[in-house]
Order: sequence, then C-alpha cells, then structure tokens
Amino acid sequence: MSDSEDPEASATIEARLREQEYFRPPTKFVGQANATDPAIHDELDEFPDGFERYAELLDWDESWDQTFDGSNPPFFEWFVGGKLNASYNCVDRHLEERKNQTALLWEGTDGEQENITYQDLYRRVNEMAAALRAQGVEEDDVVTVHLPMVPALPITMLACARIGAPHSVVFAGFSAQALAERVDSAQSDYIVTIDGYYRRGDFLEHIEKTDDALKQTDRDPTVLQWNRHDEAKADVDDDYVEVDSLLEEHALETVEPVSRDAEDPLFLMYTSGTTGKPKGCQHRTGGYLAYAAATSKNVLDIKPEDTYWCAADIGWITGHSYIVYGPLALGTTSVMYEDTPDHPHKGRIWEIAEKYDVDIFHTSPTAVRMFMKWGEEYPESYDFDFRHMTTVGEPIQPEAWLWYYKHIGDEDAVIVDTWWQTETGGHLITNLPALDDMKPGSAGKPAPGIKPALVDDQGEKLPEASGQAGNLIIERPWPSMLQTVYGNDERFISTYWEDFSDTDSDDWTDWNYKAGDGAVQAQDGYWRILGRLDDVMNVAGHRLGTMELESAVSEVEAVAEAAVAPRKDAEKGEVPDVYVILREGVERSDAVKADIVGAVEEEIGKFARPANVIFVDELPKTRSGKIMRRLLEEISNGEELGDTTTLRDPSVPEQIREQIHGD
Ligand code: WTA
Repeated sequence: MSDSEDPEASATIEARLREQEYFRPPTKFVGQANATDPAIHDELDEFPDGFERYAELLDWDESWDQTFDGSNPPFFEWFVGGKLNASYNCVDRHLEERKNQTALLWEGTDGEQENITYQDLYRRVNEMAAALRAQGVEEDDVVTVHLPMVPALPITMLACARIGAPHSVVFAGFSAQALAERVDSAQSDYIVTIDGYYRRGDFLEHIEKTDDALKQTDRDPTVLQWNRHDEAKADVDDDYVEVDSLLEEHALETVEPVSRDAEDPLFLMYTSGTTGKPKGCQHRTGGYLAYAAATSKNVLDIKPEDTYWCAADIGWITGHSYIVYGPLALGTTSVMYEDTPDHPHKGRIWEIAEKYDVDIFHTSPTAVRMFMKWGEEYPESYDFDFRHMTTVGEPIQPEAWLWYYKHIGDEDAVIVDTWWQTETGGHLITNLPALDDMKPGSAGKPAPGIKPALVDDQGEKLPEASGQAGNLIIERPWPSMLQTVYGNDERFISTYWEDFSDTDSDDWTDWNYKAGDGAVQAQDGYWRILGRLDDVMNVAGHRLGTMELESAVSEVEAVAEAAVAPRKDAEKGEVPDVYVILREGVERSDAVKADIVGAVEEEIGKFARPANVIFVDELPKTRSGKIMRRLLEEISNGEELGDTTTLRDPSVPEQIREQIHGD
C-alpha cells in the first residue's frame, strides 16, 4: 500500500489516471503469469477440441471418447464417456506434493482462525462423506446445504461430490421459506445446516430457519446439524442428527471417491429468473470442473503457492467456482472469512490481507464502492501487496475501478473484470490479465473459446464492434454451461434458447444462448455489460427476481397489487422500490410498510429488503393488463419517461411521479 502522499501529487495522479483509457499490466505481473501466450485464443478457437486443454488440467478415471456432443440441442454434452470425481481432483490428488500446505485458511469473527491443510481436508471430507452415507445419502440424491462461511460448508460440498450426491447450496441469508421452496423443488431428502454463526460479532441462530422450513415443506428431510462451537449454542431439535457425533463415529474412515460420468450433475444452484420461482441451474461434473479450473488458472492467475482470497460467499456461484472448485482443483490456498468487512472495524479486510499475505484478491464492485466511501485511510493502515485483483457480479464504474487500482492495487496490480452468470459456471467475458490492457468500466475481451455476439430484439445480429447496444448471446457452447433447469427442460429452453435460436433445427450452430444482459462491443473489441434486460435486478451483486419480490409482497393481506422496480443506487448498484396498491379501506401507514418489508425478509431474506415502499392508486398497465415496470424504473430514477402510448391510462406514470418527486 502506498503511504499517504501529499494531496497535490495525489490529485495530479488522479487526473492522469482519469484521462487514461487503457492500463498496461505491470511487467512484473506479465513475467510470472500463467497465461502469456496469445496463441491460447487460437488454440481454444479449435472447437471443440481446444477445450480438451481444460479437461487435461484434471485427473480422469477414464478419458472421454468425445469432446462435445451437439446432436441434441440445447442439451449439449461435454467430455462424453469420461469419468472423474470432483472431490478427488480438489483434494486427494494434491496429497503427494502438498499435503502439509494449507488448502483452506479460515478466518472467523474476531480473529478465530483455522488452517486446514490438504491432509486435514482429506480426512475431514472423507469423514463427512462416510457420515452422509451412513445417514442414507446415495449417489444422485440431492443434498440441500444451508451453511454460512464456515469450513463445514466446503467440507460438506466436497463430501457430497465424493459420494456423487449433487449438492444444492442455499445462501445462508435466505429465509426459511426460500429454503423450503428449494428443498421441495430439488426433491431433497437431506438438509445440512448449523446451529448458528456470527454476524458483526453476534451469534446468529441459524437453525431456526431449518425448523421453520420443515413446517413449510411436504417432505420430511433428515437434518444434519453442524455446531459452530464444540457444543450447540442454539436450541436444537432432538430429531436432528449432530454432525460432530457422526464424525466421531466415522473418525479416520475413508470413502473411495465415486467415479462419476463427466455429464453426471455435480450440483444445483438456484437462481432468480423472470418468474416467481427460482430455477435450479444444474451443473455437470467434468465440463464444469475443467472450466472452473482453467479460468482459475488463466484468468485469476492462481498458482499452488499463492494465497488467494475471494471475498464472496460460497452460497453463490462465485464462491462455488472461485473459492471452492477452481482454486482447490489447482491446489492453492483459498481464504474464507466468516463475518462482514466492517466488523470490528472498517479495516478488517486489509487486516486479513496483511495477516495472510494475500496475493490475489477478488471482490464485487459494491464492495469497492463501499471501501471507497469509507476512505483510503483504512487500506493505507495495513501492509499488503496484491498482484492481481478481480471484480465480478456487476458493472464497475471507471471511478470505482480507478480507486481500486490506485488505493488497493497501488497501481501495481492487474484488475480483471469478469462477466459471467450462475448459468455459465465460469467467466465468459474477461481479459486474460497478462495479454490484454485493462480498460476501466469494461469487462474486456471474450475468454478463450467463447463467442459472444449481440442481436437486436428481432434476433438480427448487430455488426461486430459497432458500439451499438444489443442483447448479449453466446453463439457456441462451452463446457461449464448449465445442463438444464433441474426437473424442467422446458423452462431451460424457453428461458435461455427460444428467443434467439432456430428451435426446429438439430444443428447446434443454429442455437444461441441468451444471457439476459444488454451489452455493447466497442471498436477496440472490448465488451461493456449494460445490465439485465429482463425482470432480474442486481442488488449489491445479489441477483433478485422482481417477480419473486412481488409475490412476497402480495402475501401481505393489505396489499391488492404490487410491482417492483430497480432504482439505481450509488453503493449497491440497484435497490428494489416497491409500488403498492392497498386493498379498499386499508389506510396507508408505516405499519403496513413494515409488514411489506417483513414479508420480503420472511419469504426471501433480509438481503432482499425493499429500499422504499410507495403507495399508489394505480400502476402503469398496458391495455392487456401487463404492468410496465420499465416506467416505474424511470420514475424511481427520476428519468425521462419512455413511450407511454401503449398504456391503458397514459396519465398514471405522471401521477405517480408527481406523488414521489412533487412537481
Ligand atoms: C451481472 C454472478 C457487469 C449480469 C457471477 C449477469 C455483471 C448477472 C458482471 C449474473 C460484470 C455479472 N459486469 N455485470 N463483470 N458479472 N454481472 O448469476 O447482469 O449471480 O447476468 O452470477 O450479474 O449474476 P449471477
């Protein structure tokens, strides 16, 4: 970290940085990077064989016969006939060379610490795998995992992978109801949870969510309960099975990793879409792991000797691919942190970076904006030196990028802005850090082998590098793409393929994956992501469906109708504004607002809490009765109103605007 500079010099540097469009990766970075040969792009362009390079990063029990099978679009298959085990690849195969190296470096609240070596991880994953089996978990059973950022989470995931049971991790911040919904949707007979964990230093009873979820599901799942300390701190149901005693029973047992077909599912990850129900994105074993490992190597530049820290939550896809599977497949040391960045002080992240001498740091633009608001004095008080930094999840504004570059990276680290999705399994648009110059605000070039394109709403392709905005599609399959929406192939097709593919064709080249994002490709070939074009919002990097929020709000008695619109927010990117029509005779009151906020917390989780609840008389609707959320979004943002001619009553948006902003 640079020492405090004199303010005048600092202002000059900032002015210079602002004018600069491209930033070269530092020579010392390039000199040591994993991917330094531009030929990687040509090699991966050999479709599909180029992707074999990725699969070769893994250990296979049996090699594949066919790299790609596109005969039944859009159900593409990768590394067909190959067999492997993900837990073996992330754990066992590293024992020979680095069993005493730390695999997971866990930092708990208030400085508690665990160094889990690859040998420890091997033991613990095996014991957990034995415990799960003893509880009846069989190959292909979906295990729902509702755990926070504690070692139990990756251990449980890898134990599931070892016995071939797909895990479905539900972010710990999700409510009981959201948990129940995912248990039902995945037809899961197992929930793995924990008594509690720490948030801002306070013990949070987590197991209650499972208690409540069980009341809401028709299923009767077995509950396996970890304890955050030696003994449960919460009031725990007698029917739950304590993991600690199971582990004691199975101490030092080993479980042969189950050899899985490359196409067997490794996990489900539920994500928000355009309907009220989240979709279970199903990821395959071989293609997913190969792509996560290869991008961890080429994009994140991870080497086994690095200390790598992705400050995301494992409960989201970023944590799956880039805290657990990718980094551990490469045999590196991956840091996990339990609590929030501001506890017990706003320098906590940098304190941890210094303590562990972190080399590679990965975070979200929301976090960068927050650090920026807190001020550079926090990072400046600690001695750390990143060589590589990543952002993910939302567009990063050049201003925040520059701050990150200067104050966190000391103008001496590369930054990669990685665009991808739960569905894509790994990075799709991102620079390879040693090969491309950085351009603030832009996700960069396509990853090797990836073919993005832009189409207009009619599906006509826009010219390349035209600077025009369009719908982002991916024209060619890639190994870590979702296999389907769990149990719902139709929804898989209608959500991702129907709009921009020739669905009658059985030639895979006629099929295009629809990302749901808008994007622009500038003349220099760099891509800028503009954000979601569908009813999905991005709140502090968390993906939320407006329909999910609306269905939660509609549960409130007093509510007749509700519509949710994203409002731009300087820190969180977007926040949800809820527009509500109350039932006849119900008074507009703070109590009703509180009920509405409470309903969202209950059905989804606190992280989805609405920013504003606005009572209105009418909602802007088309003649066919469809709510035009776009107009509400424009009102929320104080923007010019777009076309209102299709509205049944074109005066409605103006009325709402006057009510909110006055006139
Ligand atoms: C957005 C997170 C701009 C995008 C990995 C996408 C981004 C959604 C970026 C997926 C980025 C992700 N720049 N926007 N670098 N990365 N997004 O499924 O709208 O939680 O569709 O996956 O986040 O969110 P998800």
